[in-house]
Amino acid sequence: MCGIIGYIGKRPAFPILLSGLKRLEYRGYDSFGFFVLDKKTPFLFKKKGKISKAEKKLSDLKINGNIGIAHTRWGTTGLITDENAHPHFDCQKNIFLVHNGIIENYKELKEKLKKEGHKFTSQTDTEVLCHLIEKYFKGNLEEATRKALREVRGTYGIAVMSKKDPQKIVAARLSSPIILGINNNEFLIASDPAAIITHTRQIINLDDNEIAVLKPDNFFILKEKTPEAIEWTQAQVEKGGYSHFMLKEIMEEPETIENAIRGRIIVEEGAVKLGGLDDVKDKLKKIKRLIIIACGTSYYAAMIGRYMLEEYAGIPTEVDFGSEFRYRKSIFDKNTAAIFLSQSGETADTLAALRETKKKGILTLGITNIVGSGQARETDAGVYTMSGPEIAVASTKTFIGQLAILALFTIFFGRQRDMSLITGKRIIKELKRLPDLARDILKKEKIIKELAEKYCQFSNFIYLGRKYNYPIALEGALKLKEISYLHAEGYSGGEMKHGPLALANKKFPFFVISPLDSVYEKMISNIEEVKVRKAPILAIATIEDKKIKDITDDVVYIPKTLEMLTPILSVLPLHLFAYYMAVLKGYDVDKPRNLAKSVTVE
Ligand code: AGP
Repeated sequence: MCGIIGYIGKRPAFPILLSGLKRLEYRGYDSFGFFVLDKKTPFLFKKKGKISKAEKKLSDLKINGNIGIAHTRWGTTGLITDENAHPHFDCQKNIFLVHNGIIENYKELKEKLKKEGHKFTSQTDTEVLCHLIEKYFKGNLEEATRKALREVRGTYGIAVMSKKDPQKIVAARLSSPIILGINNNEFLIASDPAAIITHTRQIINLDDNEIAVLKPDNFFILKEKTPEAIEWTQAQVEKGGYSHFMLKEIMEEPETIENAIRGRIIVEEGAVKLGGLDDVKDKLKKIKRLIIIACGTSYYAAMIGRYMLEEYAGIPTEVDFGSEFRYRKSIFDKNTAAIFLSQSGETADTLAALRETKKKGILTLGITNIVGSGQARETDAGVYTMSGPEIAVASTKTFIGQLAILALFTIFFGRQRDMSLITGKRIIKELKRLPDLARDILKKEKIIKELAEKYCQFSNFIYLGRKYNYPIALEGALKLKEISYLHAEGYSGGEMKHGPLALANKKFPFFVISPLDSVYEKMISNIEEVKVRKAPILAIATIEDKKIKDITDDVVYIPKTLEMLTPILSVLPLHLFAYYMAVLKGYDVDKPRNLAKSVTVE
């Protein structure tokens, strides 16, 4: 995915674009670029690499002009070069365009345009849009853009400018987010609120197939839309004294639980109130089967959701990757509901799976963090995680937010069925305690940093867990791979003897998640099997567990809670461990190589 920002108003556009782009770098950071239109000299700058490297030089430039667009790229088509950075332009250097998404039929369009005489300067799919707009341009940019987009297959969020129709920015979207920011005498466009929150909190989410035209004193889109307020604050999109967004976001995990449950629990009734499900609550009473669809870390949250829903709500629940679900023949009856789980609400595979299920006419529910995202708009009903902006590419606090919401879903579905008042109350009571328990764990930051120092000499890790903590083993391993570039695999404890045990030796540490729960004894057997093979063992264990320290090398203790809620606590040390491993290795923790915050292309 890529980041887009545009500005039109009375102030110099460039500093606004530069600071906005820096906030968007987490969306893509292999190259970046600007186009600013000044009456005398238009300014175009495109560069491979991160903005920070060129920032000093750019800040010193005197760039006039009150209209401009900018882009930070995470390349999908074409190598990472200056030429492939956005903005792209047409043959006459009249049309300038930034794009997030993918033009699937770009090869055939490019061939056709080349035959018509167009000359291309990049290898990207995006450039065909510039030449298509050029082809239709007769002086009116929105007209030309509209005609060009009719020929395109794929996904896009775009912002376009023209030197020959200079007083406007045209924006359009299809499955890639575009928001308009409305301030007194100025307008902004962006792919993400984080880019424009300093200037305005009044935004309009552009819908698919809509085209917006922003002028210095007004704007219009096909449909009249009323601005809605963004609840995020500026402080939330800044590091606030932390060295990385990831650390800040891990430290926000306790309040993420509070934000997810606030106003949603009715303690004395052992029940929850999820406003987003009100309209479908009668239909949900009849549901006999659930399928949860997600990708990456959200998929691991979905796996934990399955354990919760089956154990406490008694509903058979299946879990699938968006990328697998969309291509398999799934069999549903009308008593099935699908839950889509996505931090961004824009993950291409999850959205495609959502569209597949909608074709089958079954009820769709969403859990996402992003208000107005594609998923939020396309599901029949849903709940926001309310985790606030997550800037680091690696998901941490939003995973916790998803688990808290899944616990609320479990109470919701359970109380509609056979869950007793006592059980409902017990889960709610524990959920309320979790933020403080999480704070206690995060106080062990120094101990976890020391463990990272001890273990950063190793290049391979196995993470083991069972039942509720099996997905936590997967999440711990993913986080280590993602930001520390170390080989790490997550396994269910029971699967260890079916292969991975062969790897155990003194150079191959095992990270075991073994709280005092229903599978504790089984985990202890796993630990003993590893120990006799001399592999170093780190454990996440419950404070009351007195014997684990005798059979492991290092232990991080967590407080006791209900088994179904343990993952919300056991994952915290794993997030911190991955963070410190990456810091010790000197990597760019918030922007790991080859990855972007959300995967909006297949
Ligand atoms: C998490 O650390 C990853 N960056 C990634 O696996 C992510 O969870 C996945 O791409 C799904 O994203 P989503 O929640 O926005 O759909």
